[in-house]
Amino acid sequence: MTRNLQVHAAMEHFDIVLALVRAALESRSPRASHQVERLRDAIAATNKDQAAKLSRLLSATERKQDLEPLSIDEMRASAKLARGYLPGEILTKNTAVPRDKETSAPLVRIRFPDEARTVAPVLVPAMQEAIADLLHEWNRLDQLQRYGAIPNTRCLLYGPPGVGKTELARYIARQVDLPCVEVRLDGLVSSFLGTTARNIGALFEFANRYRCVLFLDEFDAIAKARDDIHELGEIKRVVNTLLQCLDDREGKGFTLAATNHEHLLDSAVWRRFDARIEVPKPDEDARARLITRFFPPLDLSKEAIVFLIWLTQGLSGADIAGMARTVKRHLALHSDGADGAVRPDELLAALRRFVVLNTRQFAPDQVGAVTGPRTALTAALEVAGLNQIQCAEFLGVSQSTVSRSSRKSPRQGTKQEKANGHE
Ligand SMILES: Nc1ncnc2c1ncn2[C@@H]1O[C@H](COP(=O)(O)OP(=O)(O)OP(=O)(O)O)[C@@H](O)[C@H]1O
Ligand SMILES: [Mg+2]
Repeated sequence: MTRNLQVHAAMEHFDIVLALVRAALESRSPRASHQVERLRDAIAATNKDQAAKLSRLLSATERKQDLEPLSIDEMRASAKLARGYLPGEILTKNTAVPRDKETSAPLVRIRFPDEARTVAPVLVPAMQEAIADLLHEWNRLDQLQRYGAIPNTRCLLYGPPGVGKTELARYIARQVDLPCVEVRLDGLVSSFLGTTARNIGALFEFANRYRCVLFLDEFDAIAKARDDIHELGEIKRVVNTLLQCLDDREGKGFTLAATNHEHLLDSAVWRRFDARIEVPKPDEDARARLITRFFPPLDLSKEAIVFLIWLTQGLSGADIAGMARTVKRHLALHSDGADGAVRPDELLAALRRFVVLNTRQFAPDQVGAVTGPRTALTAALEVAGLNQIQCAEFLGVSQSTVSRSSRKSPRQGTKQEKANGHE
């Protein structure tokens, strides 16, 4: 059977194919999207309607992947509800901020909704749901009140460094259209130890007076300082003040806290938060979205993106942003940039630079893929999900060269892939 006839036979049962495609795209795996794109391209010549249906499904999947920001109307409505529910005065750009009495340094930084970015951070699906639920609750305060329910107004975001916790907290504040009163507790504890308890009292008093979201960043700073034996008495006072302030804030406004050392938090502090949301490192799908967010305007091929998704396994969003910056810098200085498209050899040279400078963040096979022999790279490309034709295209060699080097080097999955059964 020729290739066209095969495609034709499969497309006779297009409704079944479509159902399969839908199921595959629900996994949100970039590989599934890639295969659906191949199918679409294969049938485009013989059946434009069916190809168009596949294109629509693909773009609907892409749209779903980003946490939809609330519409302006929804935000206005929610702000009105929040204003109705929350007591307090309106915080304006002219409001005087609380300051440390001795140094007169400001204790908080205020971000007004019109100053903040509205782009949602890239989140894994479970997180998107958790945040959507939280926002839904915060935006439906009146309905909760009708049933006498107390809204969940205290939320702790925790997870490894650089995964977007700070960004997410600012985004949440923006979505409820309230100013975000931001304080870094590490700064507060280190520069004002001795007056920390008083400063914490002052900043809560300020946040309770105005309608706002209070965001306590680097929340573990207090727990960490407790290890300092000389300051034990003072830290106990600070923790007690913090617990008291968190309790008193109930019903007065939203409180967000972020930490990457949740294990250091006192269980009494931990319990004060009704929602505790873990922000994990990005999964395969989230990495794909981070790559397409941070690498433009570089024009990467599909194969390069699939390879980058594999290479960034284990990295945080901040790491991927850093990688994109390094690659851009390197290409700006070393690429001839004739047609705008990034050549694989130039991309690999730029990635080598980043990997060598950040070796600890990578698994040995990831380091090997960009710094080792060609066989290691070929093996990695195959593990990443490229077939031999795509590998050959990416490497600019013949398919038989790829198949020879892939015979020399048995495929190796990374530990995480083996655990996920991705091999
Ligand atoms: N999930 C993400 N979506 C989009 N951008 C991200 C994401 N994670 C990290 N970034 C990028 O990394 C930068 C740093 O993120 P952020 O400061 O929010 O991380 P964090 O989790 O608060 O880190 P830390 O624990 O070190 O405070 C962001 O400005 C953004 O450019
Ligand atoms: Mg942070």
